[in-house]
Amino acid sequence: MKEIRIERTKAPKTKPADQSKLGFGNYYTDHMFLMNYDKGQGWHDPRIVPYGPIELDPAAMCLHYGQEVFEGLKAYRSPGGGILLFRPDKNMARLNSSNERLCIPLIDEEFAVEAIRQLVLIDEDWIPNAEGTSLYIRPFIFAVDAHVGVHPANHLLFCIILSPVGAYYPEGLNPVKIYVEQSYVRAVKGGIGFAKTGGNYAASLKAQDEADKAGYTQVLWLDGVERKYIEEVGTMNVFFIIDGEVITPVLQGSILSGITRMSCIDILRSKGMKVTQRLISIDEVAKAAEEGRLNEAFGSGTAAVISPIGQLKWGDKIMEINGGKIGPVSQELYDTLTGIQWGKIPDKFGWTVKVK
Ligand code: COI
Repeated sequence: MKEIRIERTKAPKTKPADQSKLGFGNYYTDHMFLMNYDKGQGWHDPRIVPYGPIELDPAAMCLHYGQEVFEGLKAYRSPGGGILLFRPDKNMARLNSSNERLCIPLIDEEFAVEAIRQLVLIDEDWIPNAEGTSLYIRPFIFAVDAHVGVHPANHLLFCIILSPVGAYYPEGLNPVKIYVEQSYVRAVKGGIGFAKTGGNYAASLKAQDEADKAGYTQVLWLDGVERKYIEEVGTMNVFFIIDGEVITPVLQGSILSGITRMSCIDILRSKGMKVTQRLISIDEVAKAAEEGRLNEAFGSGTAAVISPIGQLKWGDKIMEINGGKIGPVSQELYDTLTGIQWGKIPDKFGWTVKVK
């Protein structure tokens, strides 16, 4: 395995004093990981250096054609003072699946997990320990060729930064209100919807902004062809519980294959619940809501964790879910998932990776 060169900061920053006010993505630690790719040389010069601005040519291709991918995972402070990562191998495998779609040279997944481990250890004092807080890890790769022309890059930069965070949504574990989007679409089959790349999020901004102005936390996307089948929510995968059965949209290439999503499916099944991955239409959800059979709905994601949905607005229809309160399955799932992630309950799935 390549050796990672380490240059420590001589000017450590002051850490946020109040962990209850971290919010999400507001603070960054003292160091970052960098590694270059140059055609003919491959990935080389892995290093951990003081966190700071990156110099970029104004013609850098990522700025013009969006050739970039990213990931999101977290490090958790366990009760005994240890540090845990949650399924980092899955994140790095997904990074390579995004790389493949965006014509970005694949990375060595094991090495990337090792880079995360070393970076987290160097900045371990930044891992918050208040209830519900963690260290968000953001690996990303972008094209740096100075060339105004559309083709896969020959020069790229792989970067990992760290951010101490609290809840992504200000609502925390309180149910969010979601707007079912009918005009804009996020992705179509054959496109880049399954890849974790900025373009998907750029495509979502307009709808998100309009939903926000209307008082909704997020947008629920429908499929890009029939505008009928449910895809995902802006920053999370989505689950519905109808007549006691848990249903989540099947992966068909247009939505993200969430690591929290796959973990939720396994946890729920281990508790004896029926979980089905299939096409689910917004009409089916609305009908179930009307007939009192829509028991619960929730979103899942690294940033969002488990986020109960208390209300869905679809055109003129407002669907109240479980009286706008978190339901028992969502609560139990949250407790189990976060219990495993923070090392508070035994990890019978073998998902957590000890950093120390
Ligand atoms: C994550 O859940 O890690 C994400 O990347 C979502 C992001 C928009 C914060």
